[in-house]
Amino acid sequence: MSAVLETSKLSVRFGGVHAVNEVDLRVEEGQLVGLIGPNGAGKTTCIDAITGFVRSTGEVRLDGEDVTRLSAHQRARRGLGRTWQASELFDDLTVRENLLVAARRPSLWGVAKELFGAPVTKTEATERALELVDLAWAGDMRPTDLSQGQRKLVGVARAIAMQPRLLLLDEPAAGLDTHESEDLGRRLRSLVDGGQSMLLIDHDMGLVMSICDHIYVLEFGKLIAHGPPDVVRRDPKVIKAYLGSAAAELADEVDGEPARAADGGER
Ligand SMILES: Nc1ncnc2c1ncn2[C@@H]1O[C@H](COP(=O)(O)OP(=O)(O)OP(=O)(O)O)[C@@H](O)[C@H]1O
Ligand SMILES: [Mg+2]
Repeated sequence: MSAVLETSKLSVRFGGVHAVNEVDLRVEEGQLVGLIGPNGAGKTTCIDAITGFVRSTGEVRLDGEDVTRLSAHQRARRGLGRTWQASELFDDLTVRENLLVAARRPSLWGVAKELFGAPVTKTEATERALELVDLAWAGDMRPTDLSQGQRKLVGVARAIAMQPRLLLLDEPAAGLDTHESEDLGRRLRSLVDGGQSMLLIDHDMGLVMSICDHIYVLEFGKLIAHGPPDVVRRDPKVIKAYLGSAAAELADEVDGEPARAADGGER
């Protein structure tokens, strides 16, 4: 059976920097896969390459189909839905409208309604997505009225509302406190348990280790380890890669004490 996502020898170069170097990764149907690594390891660039926002070499297959030569918007239409590491919201729109602009597929009916000036309405997908991140109460508010963590969640809800085949999240827990992060973790896990396939980048080791089925570890653009959380967090190569950044947190994780990485903030 083919995976939902499969990359082979995925590579991105920025001048002399090999930001992503021959990365092979798989996300199976209904799996939550983590992608971790120290700052600058190439995690975001990896998602950029998968979703078509940066030029890459190698191959990206979605449900067994080669999408390598498709543009970012074509890949999005095929079901690759992502969030961004930095804030990504339209501050002049309400939270609900932020979801609707992304979720709405143009249809004759939609165009007709717009011609007659009908207001933007709720859809089942947007309301469900807002509920999922516990922001149903904030639908009519502006993103600027929310905390940084909540704004982050609006970005997550927006990607969920697109009902993607694969949801790719870039540090959704950045800016959240430990309690909020655990709460988000439970919600993401239940989404996956309901059948959603997901690729998750985060610096919050407690989050990643507790909810992922499988974890890939990047360092200097190369995969240095992958496997189930229990195996990955004991891997000497992984512990070494984290020395000087999140080593203490990773060690805590080995002892079973969840902790947040010190460098999990937004850039
Ligand atoms: N547009 C760009 N132009 C040149 N170099 C870039 C560009 N984007 C990223 N890089 C470099 O590519 C490497 C990987 O960066 P990337 O942002 O993918 O890392 P990351 O793992 O997401 O890091 P972080 O945890 O800090 O978000 C870094 O050396 C970075 O400086
Ligand atoms: Mg990044």
